[in-house]
Amino acid sequence: MMHAIAATANATLVLFSCLLLTTSSAQPASNISSCLLSNGVRNFSLPESPSYATLLNSSIQNLRFALPNVSKPAAVVIPSSKVDLQRAILCARDSSLAIRVRSGGHSYEGLSYTTENHVSFVVVDLMNLNRVQVDMVSNTAWVESGATLGELYHAIGQSNMSLAFPAGSCSTVGIGGIVSGGGFGLISRKFALAADNVLDAILIDSNGNALDRGSMGGDVFWAIRGGGGGSWGVVYAWKLRLVHVPHNITVFSLGRTGTVKHIAKLMHKWQFVGPYLPDEFYLSIYIPTGTSNGNVSMSFTGQVLGPKQYAMSVLHHTFPELGLAESDLSEMSWIESIAKFAGLSSVDDLSHRWLGAKQYSKSKSDYVRSPISMQGTINIIKYLSNGPQGSIQLDPYDGAMARIESSKIPFPHRAGNLYSIQYGVSWHALDNGQAEKYIGWLRSFYAYMAPYVSKNPRAAYVNYLDLDLGTNNWMNATNGTSNGSVIHARSWGRSYFLKNFDRLARAKAKIDPTNVFNNAQSIPPLQY
Ligand SMILES: Cc1cc2nc3c(=O)[nH]c(=O)nc-3n(C[C@H](O)[C@H](O)[C@H](O)COP(=O)(O)OP(=O)(O)OC[C@H]3O[C@@H](n4cnc5c(N)ncnc54)[C@H](O)[C@@H]3O)c2cc1C
Ligand SMILES: *[C@@H]1O[C@H](CO)[C@@H](O)[C@H](O)[C@H]1NC(C)=O
Ligand SMILES: *[C@@H]1O[C@H](CO)[C@@H](O)[C@H](O)[C@H]1NC(C)=O
Ligand SMILES: *[C@@H]1O[C@H](CO)[C@@H](O)[C@H](O)[C@H]1NC(C)=O
Ligand SMILES: *[C@@H]1O[C@H](CO)[C@@H](O)[C@H](O)[C@H]1NC(C)=O
Ligand SMILES: *[C@@H]1O[C@H](CO)[C@@H](O)[C@H](O)[C@H]1NC(C)=O
Ligand SMILES: *[C@@H]1O[C@H](CO)[C@@H](O)[C@H](O)[C@H]1NC(C)=O
Ligand SMILES: *[C@@H]1O[C@H](CO)[C@@H](O)[C@H](O)[C@H]1NC(C)=O
Ligand SMILES: *[C@@H]1O[C@H](CO)[C@@H](O)[C@H](O)[C@H]1NC(C)=O
Ligand SMILES: *[C@@H]1O[C@H](CO)[C@@H](O)[C@H](O)[C@H]1NC(C)=O
Ligand SMILES: *[C@@H]1O[C@H](CO)[C@@H](O)[C@H](O)[C@H]1NC(C)=O
Repeated sequence: MMHAIAATANATLVLFSCLLLTTSSAQPASNISSCLLSNGVRNFSLPESPSYATLLNSSIQNLRFALPNVSKPAAVVIPSSKVDLQRAILCARDSSLAIRVRSGGHSYEGLSYTTENHVSFVVVDLMNLNRVQVDMVSNTAWVESGATLGELYHAIGQSNMSLAFPAGSCSTVGIGGIVSGGGFGLISRKFALAADNVLDAILIDSNGNALDRGSMGGDVFWAIRGGGGGSWGVVYAWKLRLVHVPHNITVFSLGRTGTVKHIAKLMHKWQFVGPYLPDEFYLSIYIPTGTSNGNVSMSFTGQVLGPKQYAMSVLHHTFPELGLAESDLSEMSWIESIAKFAGLSSVDDLSHRWLGAKQYSKSKSDYVRSPISMQGTINIIKYLSNGPQGSIQLDPYDGAMARIESSKIPFPHRAGNLYSIQYGVSWHALDNGQAEKYIGWLRSFYAYMAPYVSKNPRAAYVNYLDLDLGTNNWMNATNGTSNGSVIHARSWGRSYFLKNFDRLARAKAKIDPTNVFNNAQSIPPLQY
């Protein structure tokens, strides 16, 4: 069914060319509801509809952006086919509404369902475009963007327990967003990012055209694989290269508690181990804020693409301080490990997209290129232990991550990076009045970390989106097409994309010169 996507792409355009707009906005705006209905798009919800709030809330993953003071869309449209999606985009343009595309709704800054400056908009939610088709002959899969990681992994696991895909561990994250920004997961040291394993894609552009790899051109196909969601058009579906994993792999989770110095020593040593282990190993660190009787805690998450004995012998040798015991290790299939690390009780739960506790939260990210000193790790653990509910997560890089050229796709954080840091803080509804206090703590911790992390620019991962780095400030998309916008966006764009930023801005001018697809940190078009 999904192999027919590319073939039918052009036929639909002829049918709906009546909707193709000139960019002039002299015409009075039409009514989105009548446009959708007359084009056969039936599943949408307007603010007055009883289903509206539930549909809008359904995949708002960061509750900060579900509050009443955040502006709401003029409609939530739920396409159930590629053609519906094309028509939804054209109707939104016809009605002079900005477009926000949502797959899993996990944007850290809510960019898939909010706009800046109260610009009127529609949410095009891809939840019903979630089909996955695995081809066991070529070991590839076509997956619609609205599928969650859990739905993709489940389909792969059902087809062959030795096939896998490198992407994140939270099962409700959307394919549309995570692949657009890169997609790091537990097997990325072996197989690199999700975006590194994209073979083809169908992109719906601002004129409603469906373009495949060949018809979108090399620069645009480069840009959509890691250049961040929301800038290029809507990726309807991706063709992914699946990877081979052993039938049984080894996993473990270890908690450690001790004095600040004890935990700092483990973190310090880990920097010389995690990034240097064989590619089959993933060993990450998670450290929450807080203390208990003066002690602090941390946990290690481990996954090894191999048997227990292999995991044991390598880690015993390289990291004796970890005190790993054979009884800490379990062997299971890759798909079982996916369910375990997603916090699910069974593999079948992977196909349920409405799971997981939602939070009010704020995140930030960093890259570390040289090991932090022992005194540095002590200072960091002390700072962290005094914080409100929050954490840091350190993910080891190197391996396959470092063997890919920084310009191969837009995601540039390759050789020379030891690990990434993800900072988070979260709070409960009752504490909403003090949200700024929690966010303020995270910002001060981030400032405190500056000497220890990458510089000039201080790098960040676009999937760990952070509007503190800067934002576009257009009142409407039209003023986002000037060179000034590009110069402004470069200030944070270089943090995410380093030297790849300008190429992204030029690709944007090719695919969306009038900046129809925009958000607070989208790439503006560089015209020349
Ligand atoms: C709990 C949690 C766990 C996470 N774990 C990981 C992890 O392990 N590894 C990792 O790399 N990242 C991880 N992330 C970050 C995640 O990759 C990003 O938040 C990603 O953008 C989420 O994708 P989404 O489809 O769920 O989000 P959405 O909010 O739906 O979309 C994110 C952005 O992409 C755009 N977009 C969505 N769909 C499309 C599409 N089809 N075409 C074009 N643009 C689109 C949106 O407009 C928005 O700008 C995690 C995030 C959370 C909240
Ligand atoms: C839009 O059209 C629908 C029917 O096509 C109508 O019921 C509704 O009142 C119109 N809304 C506006 C704002 O014009
Ligand atoms: C629209 O899609 C949602 C999500 O799948 C579904 O719950 C709802 O019943 C659909 N509504 C219509 C009118 O088809
Ligand atoms: C949507 O979420 C907001 C914030 O959590 C809440 O106030 C509102 O009641 C929710 N609406 C529905 C219908 O769930
Ligand atoms: C699953 O994939 C592996 C590795 O490609 C292959 O050897 C095996 O035959 C496949 N199993 C089935 C049932 O197709
Ligand atoms: C603190 O951790 C150490 C181990 O490093 C342990 O021996 C001690 O009992 C802990 N103290 C408390 C109060 O939990
Ligand atoms: C896989 O691991 C399980 C659990 O340890 C074990 O029972 C089984 O024999 C292993 N299978 C293979 C093929 O090693
Ligand atoms: C909405 O309200 C929350 C808590 O009351 C506040 O922290 C936040 O800044 C407000 N957001 C906007 C966009 O006004
Ligand atoms: C867009 O226009 C607004 C209002 O005129 C202005 O403040 C802003 O700087 C402009 N943004 C860019 C990116 O040029
Ligand atoms: C959008 O911005 C441009 C440039 O600032 C301005 O000329 C135009 O009138 C604005 N359009 C709307 C609908 O506000
Ligand atoms: C934008 O910058 C390019 C060079 O970077 C230049 O050729 C072009 O004339 C500029 N356009 C405008 C409108 O200033």
